[in-house]
Amino acid sequence: DMPAIHIDKHRKVAPVDARIYSGFTEHMGRCIYGGIYEPDNQHGLSDPKTGFRNDVLDALKSLNVPIFRYPGGNFVSSYRWQDGIGPKDQRPRRPELAWLTEESNQFGTDEFMSFCREMDAEPFICLNMGTGTLEDALAWLEYCNSSANTHYANLRRKNGHEEPYNVKYWSLGNEVWGPWQVGQMTAEDYAKKAYQWAKALKLLDPSIKLISCGETGHANWDRIVLKALAPVVDFHSIHIYTVSQGDHSVNVMGPAAAEKALEITKSLTDLALIEAGLDKEIPVCFDEWNVWDPVRAPGEKGAEEHYDLSDALAVAAWLNVFVRKADVVKIACIAQSVNVISPIITSPTGLYKQTTFYPLQLFATLMHGTALDVHVDSPVYEGKTVPAFVKDLAGKGGKEMRGWVDVSAVLSPSNDEIRVAILNRHPEETFAVDVRFGPITEAGGKVKVYEVYSDNLTDTNGFESDGGEKVKTVEKEIEFDGTYEVKKHSFQGLG
Ligand code: AHR
Repeated sequence: DMPAIHIDKHRKVAPVDARIYSGFTEHMGRCIYGGIYEPDNQHGLSDPKTGFRNDVLDALKSLNVPIFRYPGGNFVSSYRWQDGIGPKDQRPRRPELAWLTEESNQFGTDEFMSFCREMDAEPFICLNMGTGTLEDALAWLEYCNSSANTHYANLRRKNGHEEPYNVKYWSLGNEVWGPWQVGQMTAEDYAKKAYQWAKALKLLDPSIKLISCGETGHANWDRIVLKALAPVVDFHSIHIYTVSQGDHSVNVMGPAAAEKALEITKSLTDLALIEAGLDKEIPVCFDEWNVWDPVRAPGEKGAEEHYDLSDALAVAAWLNVFVRKADVVKIACIAQSVNVISPIITSPTGLYKQTTFYPLQLFATLMHGTALDVHVDSPVYEGKTVPAFVKDLAGKGGKEMRGWVDVSAVLSPSNDEIRVAILNRHPEETFAVDVRFGPITEAGGKVKVYEVYSDNLTDTNGFESDGGEKVKTVEKEIEFDGTYEVKKHSFQGLG
């Protein structure tokens, strides 16, 4: 049978939250220094006043990033935010314990806020629950959000920022469960501490949204933390990275595991809310996701992945998951935004867009509106996935997630157009796919296609001197008669 995609515009899942296309800027490798901020750039690429790299900000602007998470990541767990404010020549250099480097503190809270303003994005601060105290956290919140006549609000004014920043998103620690974390805790200890922090932070500013620190969404940690923190948090954060292990199929099927994880997170959240008798929602904030092989690109060396076409297809698979799960995921931050496991790579003389930039840009541009339920008949991949639990635990549900042809669809914000993201994960086979719009809509006519394809799965992008960009979006128009030929290992947005 020919693979088929069935879409019915009446079968609405949920509005696609634009915040699923958010970013993440950690003090790690060359994300901040040499990435978004390079005041001493010798090639005129930086703004003389702010030190921001204009070319980087322009590239990020074309991704429509609604929120940036900051300052970590692992970095935050030994970060003193107070070191990063005030006159730059008086800011202390400190040892940095996440990536074992030194932190100059030349970029801090006020610089981050001005970066967000320039990007027209909302700031999202992750709190230090490693070396940081509740007092530090309250002081940071006061510095950012208070309009009172109190010490830290006045310090912000003294530093030249009269108006509060009104930072809405605050998360309670980063990967506190991880053995690599400064201040690692058990789930019970974390839940107890985070509960007290949440109460106090909301006393100071009841308008903020708090985010609990989860693990993968399907871990015992998540179960314990959700149960304890459901009354006081607004989102639950989870992190998953997928990895190829040198195998394209493993690479592109990894996000299927994340999809299963999201279903489990949703169930754990529902259970916690039911048990506590709470009438509220706690959507997922997937505040770190991406393709990352820490052996290929170690964190201590700045995690500069050089992505190929296979990785770009894996990123498209990730984004299909977020659109399909629009009812569960309301925020997602690609980790990270510049240089560090990122769609953009800079040098002092310029930047290039990695292969992964293009599917991300297509989603952030096209896939808005209302997510539609999609049924796909596709040959299924039977091999292993990483993480592995999908295949081991899931029956039919898991299988559906591992079709070679992987699809998400939206009804456009103006309700007059169906947009379809079609990914063919198969390394060799081109499929003629039947696209059926049921039960009423007649398909046909001219359709715009934005295609990400190149002949070899191992094709990568680079600076002009290294061959330029082999993998990017090509735009065309086709006469659509109900069947669409989807090339082997390709991604396309139709709409
Ligand atoms: O994004 C890189 C790192 O991955 C983050 O600092 C940490 O939270 C995760 O382990």
